[in-house]
Amino acid sequence: MWKSNWRLTLAGALLASGVVQAQGVAADGQKVVMQGDGSGAPCLACHGLDGAGNNAAGFPRLAGLNVDYLAKQIRDYNAGLRVSPIMQPNVDNLSEQQILDVAAYYAQQPVPAAATVSDDAELLALGEKLATRGDWNHYIPACESCHGPDSQGVSATFPGLAGQHPNYIKQQLNAWRSGQRHNDPNQLMTGVAERLTEQQVEAVSMYLGAQPAVAAEGGQ
Ligand code: HEC
Ligand code: HEC
Repeated sequence: MWKSNWRLTLAGALLASGVVQAQGVAADGQKVVMQGDGSGAPCLACHGLDGAGNNAAGFPRLAGLNVDYLAKQIRDYNAGLRVSPIMQPNVDNLSEQQILDVAAYYAQQPVPAAATVSDDAELLALGEKLATRGDWNHYIPACESCHGPDSQGVSATFPGLAGQHPNYIKQQLNAWRSGQRHNDPNQLMTGVAERLTEQQVEAVSMYLGAQPAVAAEGGQ
């Protein structure tokens, strides 16, 4: 089955590279959250001190996401692999240690309860089908085949999607489709996003956003 092989191959490659990650200090990360990087707005202005984010504004929840995933994203903004004029100016002055610290802080915050944003049962059922079974007529694998059981995330490579804000999920799927985000290893996510219809994007975002999330391993 190729869908599970993707994950195994990638995980194997990452393990074989033997990268030893430096550790962040959550207490120092909290200072960054409150003060920012010295030139941009403090993180809490958009993501909150608790990392809950905001669905209406499209600010992602950071609480309970994998610590190494969070640090990678900050580096990716600074490297131009993810383009966001709202986000990038807030992290471009952070040192590598501050990146590790702020990632450690947000990864340790408790995950807030998921909110149901849509009560359209048909749309949610379509979303559930994509998340759990995919759409093989259009070569779209189940989100779970990479993002793990119940889309709770697997290691630093496949972020948890359950309980993420639907507007943010939608934005990111569209960012891959338009090329604004191109930081996914082996274009794993681009290949999925570009095959989704607009209705499927809407459905899977609404469904995933309403699922209860658990904190990533190593987050606590
Ligand atoms: C002015 C609002 C704003 C501020 C301030 C801000 N962010 Fe963000 N952040 C955003 C938005 C909007 C996104 C999504 C951007 C995109 O489309 O890539 C984002 C995305 C992120 C992501 C990616 C999350 C994911 O799931 O991939 C991380 C990590 C992040 N921010 C960390 C921080 C940190 C750390 C700070 C403070 C040093 C900060 N942000 C300050 C608005 C903000
Ligand atoms: C073949 C593997 C694969 C499949 C299948 C897959 N993804 Fe992903 N996805 C990834 C990878 C890898 C990343 C992380 C990219 C990075 O490093 O930033 C990702 C990231 C994401 C993100 C960004 C999360 C964040 O916090 O910014 C969203 C949203 C997402 N995927 C949605 C989906 C949806 C919805 C589906 C199912 C329709 C899906 N993915 C199926 C590999 C996959």
